[in-house]
Amino acid sequence: MVAERTPIPTLLPANMPVIEGGEPAASSQCQVAAADLIGAWVEAGSPETDPFQFADASGQNCESTFAEVRPLFIEANLWYSGSMSCVACHGADVVTASAQLDLSNFAGINAGSRRPDAESNGTDILGAGKWKSSLLYDFITTSKADVPGHGNISSSLVVSSGLPLPEATPTP
Ligand code: HEC
Repeated sequence: MVAERTPIPTLLPANMPVIEGGEPAASSQCQVAAADLIGAWVEAGSPETDPFQFADASGQNCESTFAEVRPLFIEANLWYSGSMSCVACHGADVVTASAQLDLSNFAGINAGSRRPDAESNGTDILGAGKWKSSLLYDFITTSKADVPGHGNISSSLVVSSGLPLPEATPTP
């Protein structure tokens, strides 16, 4: 039996951006400033697959993984409307990438910047686990507006990421 279908295409609601500035969207996910999410990942020792924890914007304890951090590096129109993706300049080919920095995947981010070739590590951009002393922090959260691609990215961008952890049950 052939299912009856309406010839009129069903109107879908316009796609809401997953990432929103300002007002956190109603969601079961945690809401956190993008820079704080990256910072929590760095402070946790930048794990590739293990979950890391953070307090979200409303103070609840949450957990996320690198898989949810990665879009911040590879997606355009994310940090602000019209923003380039980081990988537009910091792509997988370290020879041609800006600052010889490959932000396209975990290995590249960990290998750092100013790499002589694809086999070598360069300058640690993760501050050896100390977020606020990292180059990444500098370029994301402070004004590097003079470097093309870095202006405006320190907006108060809030992203949905990770899930709330269950409340700890008080021990009697
Ligand atoms: C339009 C191209 C462009 C885009 C887009 C861009 N960058 Fe850069 N980035 C550069 C250039 C060029 C430099 C080198 C600046 C310098 O030499 O002072 C740099 C430097 C850096 C550095 C410092 C590396 C070092 O050793 O000095 C970091 C970290 C960095 N970018 C992260 C990012 C992140 C994260 C994003 C996305 C949010 C991003 N960049 C987007 C061009 C870009």
